Formats: sequence, structure tokens, C-alpha cells
Amino acid sequence: MEKIIILDFGSQVTQLIGRRLRELNVYCEIHPFNKMPQMDADVKGVILSGSPASVRSVDAPQVNLDGIKGKLPLLGICYGAQYLAYKYGGNVENSDSREYGRAKMTVKGTSPLFEGIPAVSQVWMSHGDTITRLPEGAEIIGSTEDVDNAAYHIAGEPTYAVQFHPEVFHSEYGADMLRNFIVRVCGCSCSWTPDSFIETQVEELREKLGDDKVILGLSGGVDSTVAAVLLNKAIGQNLTCIFVDNGLLRKNEFTDVLESYKDMGLNVIGVQSGALFLKKLEGVSEPEAKRKAIGTTFIEVFDAEAQKITGARWLAQGTIYPDVIESCGVNGTAAKIKSHHNVGGLPEKMNLKIVEPLRSLFKDEVRRVGRALGIKEELIGRHPFPGPSLGIRILGEVTEEKLAILREADAIFINKLRNWPCDLPSASEPSRRATNLYDSIWQAGTMLLPVRSVGVMGDERTYEYTCALRAVISTDGMTADWVHLPYEFMAEVSNEIINKVRGVNRVCYDISSKPPATIEWE
Ligand code: XMP
Repeated sequence: MEKIIILDFGSQVTQLIGRRLRELNVYCEIHPFNKMPQMDADVKGVILSGSPASVRSVDAPQVNLDGIKGKLPLLGICYGAQYLAYKYGGNVENSDSREYGRAKMTVKGTSPLFEGIPAVSQVWMSHGDTITRLPEGAEIIGSTEDVDNAAYHIAGEPTYAVQFHPEVFHSEYGADMLRNFIVRVCGCSCSWTPDSFIETQVEELREKLGDDKVILGLSGGVDSTVAAVLLNKAIGQNLTCIFVDNGLLRKNEFTDVLESYKDMGLNVIGVQSGALFLKKLEGVSEPEAKRKAIGTTFIEVFDAEAQKITGARWLAQGTIYPDVIESCGVNGTAAKIKSHHNVGGLPEKMNLKIVEPLRSLFKDEVRRVGRALGIKEELIGRHPFPGPSLGIRILGEVTEEKLAILREADAIFINKLRNWPCDLPSASEPSRRATNLYDSIWQAGTMLLPVRSVGVMGDERTYEYTCALRAVISTDGMTADWVHLPYEFMAEVSNEIINKVRGVNRVCYDISSKPPATIEWE
């Protein structure tokens, strides 16, 4: 499978290079500069990312390009362009020619990188240092008003460099430039599609797993569902899925989701252990303690169930690419791996090997693969939902009474979102239009606050709970902004909740962005 390697020097927009290439149907991998992968025959080209560092500083990120430069197509972006200049006979200085933001680039001469690009176009710059002398054998292929050496090519080899960021939206023809590099310089066929991914994954999974038995924890979410259907296609009944009802799920969620899994032909064991979870949560009100209690109980229940499946050798997980990309951080050293998975500790405990069929995909690609696998839109378009479930949406101690109140209020909110027409872009796939508010929102949910306040209903004074509605837009959950829900919508939801849900007499809307707030309240 042809692939492009992106070496990350710590730029905030490195992931965007990956996104752009994937949109061009090319498989690519992002690696920290200090963990260079093997350049096997599948590697068609290498991209050097930007960085907040200066190539002139003593602790600048360094990489050995001996096996790459002149041998494989190479594109340096921003810091990558400066690094190539600095290392190969050019010069980089902190001059007056620094540029931030939009600049006009004029194409010089002819170059495959700029084929089909207008003679003058807008590019996005973000550099303090400037390339004042090109590396040996290099020719200018693009200049801006302030910077002569805005883009160059090293003659006689497939090495290109651009001072600007073609991966960001504000570089008008950036995607075309990347396509030119991928197609005209690297010779990629751009044939990486959801269908081709499914085909190669199924083959690889069959080879890797043979006749082994595999266990997978289903959550009702997109990632674990797509992982399950893909594995099911590869190994059929050797896959056993476990779906745990932790007693903290939303209204009818356990039965509805279990039903749709059965429709898909998955071999699913539904485990109802709500009573155990609630017992473990008795008297616990501190958020971290609640998360721990839920997490350890989940492992206990899952483990007990999995032990019943004799001969299981693998644990499958719905890990996706943003969870595994190692960010090399601002100083190029701190490696951090994000982990959101709720089965931490299980593989060691159970002596299982891990299989993660989606670990190379971004979230929207998981959805595309899910659609190609024929998974229903209701499941593909579901909002993210945290592993600890309503347990972290009831602030303070969790009780059956509060769960019942929150389930009703949340169901009213979510149903109304699903039934309210809207033609904004879809949150899960911005190139499509949403058909209802739910689809235009990245995540929505209801919190039950641990305060009661006075109200009046009919002739009676009430003293009841408050619930807070939360609806956000986001791309990855790392940052988020609150959604400007229509006033008429809010009026209707508030009315319906207060009229129908006994125990609630006040509804608020959360207008905090992340950061500094978080999406969940605990
Ligand atoms: P926060 O509240 O940190 O949430 O802004 C960001 C995203 O992560 C989800 N979330 C979790 N998902 N296990 C999960 O699987 C968890 O413990 C967990 N905590 C938060 C949250 O719903 C949001 O989508």
C-alpha cells in the first residue's frame, strides 16, 4: 500500500497535513521526527512539517535525511524548508522579512509543484526566521513581496520546499500544491478509499488472527461499532462482543442499541450489571472517585464475562488515529499519547493481545468506513458519549431517583434536537447538510445539578432540581464552543421538561466554551 511519511517537528498544524493527504485518498502516517520509521518500498514520499523551533537554536529538532534526500520525493514545509536550507549549504537568519498571515506568492519558472496554480495566489505564512541563501543546487520556484525564497526546488532531485503552509485553509491553492506533490512528484495513484481500506484490513485481520477468538467491548459509539463490524466481516463468529449495561445509560439505550447490533449479525452478549455499578457508587460524590469506581467496576464485569469465552486470545479496541498520534510538543521532546479507553489494564490482567483495526483512521474516516460497511445512519451519526455515562452528568452522588429524572429530561432534549429541522452543515461530515439540529451538533447532553430551588406550579410551591442543557460544536473534543440554539427551540424544550419531568422546575443552558470549561461537567 503506497504511503507518505510526515515527520513532525512539533507544529500545531501537522495533523492538518495528514488530513489534507487523506482527503486526496492517500494513506499517510505522522511520526515524531525523533522516531523515524523504516523507509520501506511502500513509502512514496516524505514531508517535513513546520515547528515552533528555530533551526538556528542549539536544541533545534534534528533528523538524519541521508537515506531520504535525493532518493525519495521530499517536501519541506516552513521549518522543514528552513531545515533543508540550513543543513545543505544555505543560510537561515532572523531577518526583517518575517511574515505572519496572508501573503501573495508569485510562481517563478515552471515546476510540477505549482502546475495549474495561478501565477499569483494567496498563501499562509507563519515564520520568524527567513531563508536568506538557498541550499546548494536550489532554484527559486516562488517568491512573495517580502521573501524571495518562498519556495524552491533542488535541481536534479525530487526535493521541494515551501516557506508557507499549504495545509491550512487560507493557502488558496494549498490542497492543489499537495496534490501536485503527491501525484506529480511522488507518483501516487490516490486509490486509498473506504472500500480499499476495508478490503486490505479484512485480509490483514484474517492473516493476523487466523482461527483465534477475539473479544470486543461494544459501547454503542461509532468507533467500537465500526471496529466490530469490520472484525465480524473478517472473522465472523470468532468475534464475541460484550455490551455492558452499567445502569448509567440513557433512556432505552441498552435495549435499542442491543437490538441494532443483533440486526447487524454481530455476536453480542448484553450484560446487565446496573445494580453492581450503583452499589459501588453509593455515597461517592467526588468526580474522580466516581470515574474510578465506574472504571474499575467495568473492568471487573467485563473480565468476568470475557473469562467465560474459552480460548479468547485477543482484545479488540476501537482506538482511532488521533488517540495514537504522538505529539512531539513544542520543544520537540515530550511524547504524549492520549488515551480515552475505558478498558485500561484489561489486556495485561487477562493476558490478551491487542488488535486495533481503526488505529490509522481519523474520526470522519471511521464514519465513511462505517457507511461503506452498511452500518445504519442512526449509529454512524451518534454523538460521542462518555464511558462513565450519566454517572458524570449527575453532579454529586448518583441515585436511582436522579437517574430517572435525568433520563427523562435528556430524552426530551435529544428527541427535540432530532425532530427540529436544520440545514446547517452536518457536524460529523461538514461536506453534507444536516437534516435536523442533532446532526448539526457535535455533542449534546443534559446535566442534573445537585441544587434544588423554589418554584411554583399551579397553586403549589415546588422545591426541585435544576438541569443544564449542553450542546457544542467541535472537531475532536479537544476544544469546543457552545451552539447558538434557536430561542424558540429552547423555549419548547424548557417548557416540555418542566411540564413533563417530575423533579425539575428549572432549565439552564450552558454557554461556556472549552477551554476553559470542559464538555462534561465532571
Ligand atoms: P471533556 O469533558 O474532557 O470531554 O471536555 C471531551 C470529550 O471526551 C468525552 N469524555 C469521555 N469519553 N471516557 C470516554 O470514553 C471518559 O471517561 C470520558 N470523559 C469525557 C466527552 O463526552 C467529550 O466528548
